[in-house]
Amino acid sequence: MINPHILTLKPSATLKINQYVQRLKSEGEDIIHFGFGQSPFPVPERLVSEVKGNAHCSSYLPSLGLRELREEIAHFLEKHQQMKVHPEQVLIGPGSKELLFQTILLLEGSFLIPKGSWVSYGPQIQAVNKDFVVLETEFSNNFKLNPEVLEDYCTAHADESKILILNTPNNPSGAVYSGEELQELAKVCKKHDLYVISDEIYSQILFSDNQTSAPSMSVFYPEKTFVFGGLSKVFAAGGYRLGFMILPLTQLKLQAAFHSLFSETFSAVASPIQHAAIVAYSYEESIQKHVTGSVAVLNHLAQYVYDELTAAEIDCTVPQGGFYVTVGFNNFKEKLEDKKLETSQALATYLLQEYKVALLPGIDFYFGPDELFFRLAYVDFDGEKALNAYSTKKEPLDNSFIEMYAPNIVKGIQRLKGFTKNLKEQKLVHDQL
Ligand SMILES: Cc1ncc(COP(=O)(O)O)c(C=O)c1O
Repeated sequence: MINPHILTLKPSATLKINQYVQRLKSEGEDIIHFGFGQSPFPVPERLVSEVKGNAHCSSYLPSLGLRELREEIAHFLEKHQQMKVHPEQVLIGPGSKELLFQTILLLEGSFLIPKGSWVSYGPQIQAVNKDFVVLETEFSNNFKLNPEVLEDYCTAHADESKILILNTPNNPSGAVYSGEELQELAKVCKKHDLYVISDEIYSQILFSDNQTSAPSMSVFYPEKTFVFGGLSKVFAAGGYRLGFMILPLTQLKLQAAFHSLFSETFSAVASPIQHAAIVAYSYEESIQKHVTGSVAVLNHLAQYVYDELTAAEIDCTVPQGGFYVTVGFNNFKEKLEDKKLETSQALATYLLQEYKVALLPGIDFYFGPDELFFRLAYVDFDGEKALNAYSTKKEPLDNSFIEMYAPNIVKGIQRLKGFTKNLKEQKLVHDQL
């Protein structure tokens, strides 16, 4: 009587850890929450005033979104991501997550997920009774998909239709694919006629001296790439629930199918939010400054996290964008095995209980259970204060900035270093008790 594909979805390890953290915090525990993946910054003031000013707009809007918003997004992507987009290709939905789900529902074939990808792709695919395959990636390559791995898989499975899911800047690794890397992947996609779901929700959160947006897969493979973005990360407005997707021009015929799906499910995104999004994508100076200021602060924190962890021999991906790194304790595997800490889930629980640090276990990001990788989100700080100190008070981004405005990041990183130091000295916290 109940759909088994939904009934058999496991509660995610991520959710479990988050609930556990909430419980410990409510009991007064001093937990550093590296598990939480939400922008720490305030919504730009201009968006807030636009929502307020349009609070009276109570009519349903067109299911594909306000025309003016679709035009503004097309213009934004052309200007900042070198994409050629016609407003007809732009569809608006309540968050990119929902749009990803509707696309997964629509596309038939086997979904290919590089190891080290966002938690929700797999459960969404399972929920609609479709299959996915995890493609191998390596820590040494920042868990980016190697074109040869894709080529080998496609050659071995030539007679299935396939959909590749790419995410850049990446959650959980912070890696960003270069234009050249995307071009190489595009060649394989073209050869094997793949569809690509390109999740580019963190595009403008890029740590680079000469670019402000990450390269888009659709520039290299426009024929069959669906691009996803939205307000949640770049504009720090996850709760506004507005995302967009870009249909490939050659697949514009799918617009009618999406139109039906949207109108039969969510109808349309809230009107005041769509008006605020028009302002966001106009990217006027105050908003652009807000975004670039936030990115500078995140970049500084990311470098601190990376430098500190690598100095302590903890594996850490090179942060290039977004607000995560993937960290690994595989260098300590033998010592951890002696203590029966053999899976990422067991170690995440241990670190939370004994060191009061919450990391998300790699198993939710398609790593094997015994691969000791974790997602670390470095957003446990007051973004408003930090942004104000950097942008308004012009305080320099140095070590004292981190100590002053992101003390929990310092504390959490020092606790992780303390953990590995104890391991090296063969001490675990409960050995000392
Ligand atoms: C990689 C990635 N894609 C998509 C989303 C969904 O974002 P939203 O539905 O808020 O647009 C998230 C949010 O955590 C994410 O990290």
